[in-house]
Amino acid sequence: MQIQCTWAYRELRFRPTLFPTFSKHLQTSIGCVPTRGGRGTYSFVATMSSVSTQNEVVSTQNTRRPLQIAKRLEKFKTTIFTQMSNLAVKHGAINLGQGFPNFDGPEFVKEAAIQAIRDGKNQYARGYGIPDFNSAIAERFKKDTGLVVDPEKEITVTSGCTEAIAATMLGLINPGDEVILFAPFYDSYEATLSMAGAKIKGITLRPPDFAVPIEELKSTISKNTRAILINTPHNPTGKMFTREELNTIASLCIENDVLVFTDEVYEKLAFEMDHISFASLPGMYERTVTLNSLGKTFSLTGWKIGWAIAPPHLTWGVRQAHAFLTFATSTPMQWAAATALRAPESYYVELKRDYMAKKAILVDGLKAVGFKVFPSSGTYFVVVDHTPFGLPDDIAFCEYLIKEVGVVAIPTSVFYLNPEDGKNLVRFTFCKDEETLRAAVERMKQKLLRN
Ligand SMILES: Cc1ncc(COP(=O)(O)O)c(C=O)c1O
Repeated sequence: MQIQCTWAYRELRFRPTLFPTFSKHLQTSIGCVPTRGGRGTYSFVATMSSVSTQNEVVSTQNTRRPLQIAKRLEKFKTTIFTQMSNLAVKHGAINLGQGFPNFDGPEFVKEAAIQAIRDGKNQYARGYGIPDFNSAIAERFKKDTGLVVDPEKEITVTSGCTEAIAATMLGLINPGDEVILFAPFYDSYEATLSMAGAKIKGITLRPPDFAVPIEELKSTISKNTRAILINTPHNPTGKMFTREELNTIASLCIENDVLVFTDEVYEKLAFEMDHISFASLPGMYERTVTLNSLGKTFSLTGWKIGWAIAPPHLTWGVRQAHAFLTFATSTPMQWAAATALRAPESYYVELKRDYMAKKAILVDGLKAVGFKVFPSSGTYFVVVDHTPFGLPDDIAFCEYLIKEVGVVAIPTSVFYLNPEDGKNLVRFTFCKDEETLRAAVERMKQKLLRN
């Protein structure tokens, strides 16, 4: 029997020099095989034959098996979301960490799913999507961007945006291709790029406005650059790329023959300015893959219904990867998703109004508590500077916040290639009901003291 443990993330990243001592101790005292992991984690596997449990030595076969994982995924360990959520449960903390609503999606969409199941729409769907849903996506895209796309040739339905991201990377990136990523970034980008064998070129967006450093972008683009990945509105910062930034990126892409993969899952949560879909910029549709999903807009994150929109020559690669990743996506949920996307405009107006009220509660509350709050134009996230409270870094702050205050936030260092870049910043979400947001603010007001 094996025991697996992960040495706390914080220990490893900030005290890496402890590893040799720790490692030697484990080997001599309990016969563990320690391995160095990614993002500052260290794991070890111990054989039960040599491990003392509750003062007893348990004897089993003497097998030593280090954790096994392909090199391309070695550095990715348990995500910070899981770690923080586990801590939150242990300490009964209010979870403003992970980005899923604590309220349900709309009745008319749920009813449509139930109806589809009752109507027997329960067998494999067509690989790239049931025709009605592909059409609904094309209709929605036309309403939002003015672009007319062929639902049969330019839309691929996937299992959430996460699969659309993976299918795009695996279907269009060759090993060794350079892909430019703006940090902080949604964690699946780095992992799927790694699986595709891409060379990641990171560019850090810095507070207060997280503006794109254009000169750095220009000097990062090379003849090997295959694609730039954009996420607007942006998780975790809430930044929305300005028209000027997007236009500059577009002309650089045209000049250097570079593709754009644009993740727009928060497009309907654009509060301070209108969302600009990258594909709608002049000359860009031909070189853009637009990635999206139902989860955020319809508060149905567990449904995992997503899609990729791209011209036929790019859709080919995306579809080939999708065909061998999942082949097809849940049939009844696609029927319901078609109903969702045909929702009247009033649905989107109300969604935005509700979220603006939630945002005001959280942002005003965080300011009153004493955080430096950075402006968030879209998404349901807000990033703050935690340093007024005197903790050494974002991980230490989040642990303190959970254990001593009873609120969960997400440390942002996990969203960077260089974790140091995020050590002063933590992310809160406001995709929770107003009572929960108020309770979290109240706890922070009472228990979080400025240094
Ligand atoms: C920027 C971004 N892209 C994609 C996703 C994943 O979307 P889905 O749940 O549809 O796979 C998330 C989820 O948090 C996200 O924040």
